[in-house]
Amino acid sequence: MLKSGDDSGRLRLGLVPTMGYLHEGHLSLVERARESCDLVVVSIFVNPLQFGPTEDFERYPRDLERDLSLLRGAKVDCVFNPTAEDVYGNGHRPGTHVVPPQWLIERLCGEFRPGHFEGVATVVAKLFNIVQPNIAYFGEKDYQQLLVIKHMVKDLNMNLNIQGVPIVRESDGLAMSSRNVYLSEAGRKKAPIIHEVLSEVKSAVQRKASVQEAIAKGKQKLIDNGFEVQYLELCRADTLEPANDGEKPVVILVAAKLDKVRLIDNMIVS
Ligand code: PAF
Repeated sequence: MLKSGDDSGRLRLGLVPTMGYLHEGHLSLVERARESCDLVVVSIFVNPLQFGPTEDFERYPRDLERDLSLLRGAKVDCVFNPTAEDVYGNGHRPGTHVVPPQWLIERLCGEFRPGHFEGVATVVAKLFNIVQPNIAYFGEKDYQQLLVIKHMVKDLNMNLNIQGVPIVRESDGLAMSSRNVYLSEAGRKKAPIIHEVLSEVKSAVQRKASVQEAIAKGKQKLIDNGFEVQYLELCRADTLEPANDGEKPVVILVAAKLDKVRLIDNMIVS
C-alpha cells in the first residue's frame, strides 16, 4: 500500500545512489528509504568521472544480476542502470562539472584522490536531475562525500533532502564496502584493526586523554600490521577542519591501504 505523500498529495520519491556490487550497507539505505518514501529508486552506475587514471574503475566489482536479485528481495520499485553514454553523452567534449568548495575537498580523501569529489558531485547532481527524488540516502561511511553532497544541495538550492545513514559493520567491526572483496584472506583478517584503532581514539576523546597521542599510537598500530596509512585525523564533524581538544561533535576519519586496497572508515563522537 502506498503511504501518503507530501501535503500536495504527491508521492514521496526516495533515491539510493550506488555503484552496485551491493551489500547490507546499501540494503540499509534502501530500508530507510522504504520507511519514509512511497517509491524507492536505486541507481547502479560505476561513475568513471570519480576515478583517477591509476584507480580501480576497470576492475571495480560488478554483478548486475546479483544486485537485481537483492533489490527485488528488498522490494525496490525501480532500478536505474544507465550507461556512461546515457549519463555523459558521447564524451567527445567534457561537459559542465560541479566543483565542491575547495575548503571541504582539499584534505582527507580529496588530497589523495584529486578530482574525485568533482566527479561524485557531478554525477550525483545529474542523478538528482534525472530521478527528481524528494529524499536521497547516502552512507555515513563516506563521511566527506556526505558533507560534499549536503553542501552542494544547500549551495545550489536543490529541492530535496539528504539523509545520512549509519555505517553497517561486519561482526568483527569491518565497515561494509564493495571493495572488501579485493582483500586477501590474510588482509581480511587484519582489516578490522581499522575499527579497533578508531574505537581506541574515540575512547581517548571521551576520556579527555591526549588525542594526539592516541592518534600517533593508532597510526603506528596500523603501520605495524602492514597498512599504508593515508590519514588518521580528528576533525570537526561539520567542516572537517582539524578539531581542537574538547571540541564536539567531532569525527575520527581514517584511510589506509592494505593489500593495495584502499579502506576508509570513521567514527563520530557527539
Ligand atoms: O558512494 C558511492 O557509491 C558513489 O560515490 C555514488 C554516491 C553512488 C556516486 O557515484
